[in-house]
Amino acid sequence: MLVNERLRPLIPTDLHDLSHHVLVWYEDAARDLPWRIGPAARRAGQRPDPYRIWLSEIMLQQTTIPHGTRYFLVFTQRWPTVADLAAASDEDVMAAWAGLGYYARARNLLKCARVVAERGGFPETSAELIKLPGIGPYTAGAIASIAFGEQAAAVDGNVERVMSRLLADGRDWAEVKARVRDVMPTLVPEDRPGEFAEAMMDLGATICTPKSPNCLICPVSKMCAARAEGDPARYPLKQKKAPKPKRRGAVLIAEADGNVAVVRRPEKGLLGGMLALPSTEWGEGAPDSEALLKQYGAKGAEKIGEVRHVFTHFELTLDVYRGGAVMGDGDWRLPADVDGLPSVFAKAFRLAHPLNAQKR
Ligand code: ADE
Repeated sequence: MLVNERLRPLIPTDLHDLSHHVLVWYEDAARDLPWRIGPAARRAGQRPDPYRIWLSEIMLQQTTIPHGTRYFLVFTQRWPTVADLAAASDEDVMAAWAGLGYYARARNLLKCARVVAERGGFPETSAELIKLPGIGPYTAGAIASIAFGEQAAAVDGNVERVMSRLLADGRDWAEVKARVRDVMPTLVPEDRPGEFAEAMMDLGATICTPKSPNCLICPVSKMCAARAEGDPARYPLKQKKAPKPKRRGAVLIAEADGNVAVVRRPEKGLLGGMLALPSTEWGEGAPDSEALLKQYGAKGAEKIGEVRHVFTHFELTLDVYRGGAVMGDGDWRLPADVDGLPSVFAKAFRLAHPLNAQKR
């Protein structure tokens, strides 16, 4: 057996062969992803590029594979190595990241690239990787196992869901997560830890999905306690989330001589350092749009619509105003040159300039 023998007592008996079954399935079912070295190519001796593995893992946090992949291809085309990315300007990287959300990740991405370029490459263990900016336990485990073959686990939300079902563990979610964190390292095979991590990701994404697990084609349904109970989608037994608080605001598309005003958000805080449209504060009450219009000499500006955007901690509705303004100091650009707006502002911008605002 390939699992770490010392930890064997921790493993529920029925899961001893998990990695074997998952890896046999992965042999044929592995998704073709641009950063991935699939089973056949691995056998032929190809190894993943740590830079591409790291970049994909950072991008895929909180993002779907299709959306993240588009950005991955753009980034790797423009910055093929970690040294190239490290040499890029903050502004270029933030603009290229626009639309991926969670902008602190982009700043950490650059910080990390610069540290790694300076030291001449990525560290090769999860213990060292986790010290880098923006790398937590999951990402450290994923990079160490996939790129460097360390027998490390990569436990994300998908793995937690799959394991909660295999174990039919319906306790408090924090307790389930703690158990999965303890059990998972005991299940990682010594010889193919990276492929096991990738296989578990694919299993969670394509078969053991949140709402409708497809047990009929699951390679581990026989050892799944939730399946045996008859209703696997019941797990995880999470409590209902409280609805997100609602906030409101107003933005202005201020126009003068065919240019529009853009601003840069303060470095600290939400969407920190990103390009933006002039905006009121976002709060619970009605936004002070008058003051915003006045600031740009755009008293005649009219409301052209509303956009909604869901952030992690609140839901935002923005009134979008558009009107002639007095060009003052600041950053005025032709609509075709407004690039790098985060999604919430891109949505608003598209109301006035459907052809110029990038579709994210
Ligand atoms: N989700 C997050 N990281 C992934 C990866 N490396 N492969 C597939 N799905 C993922």
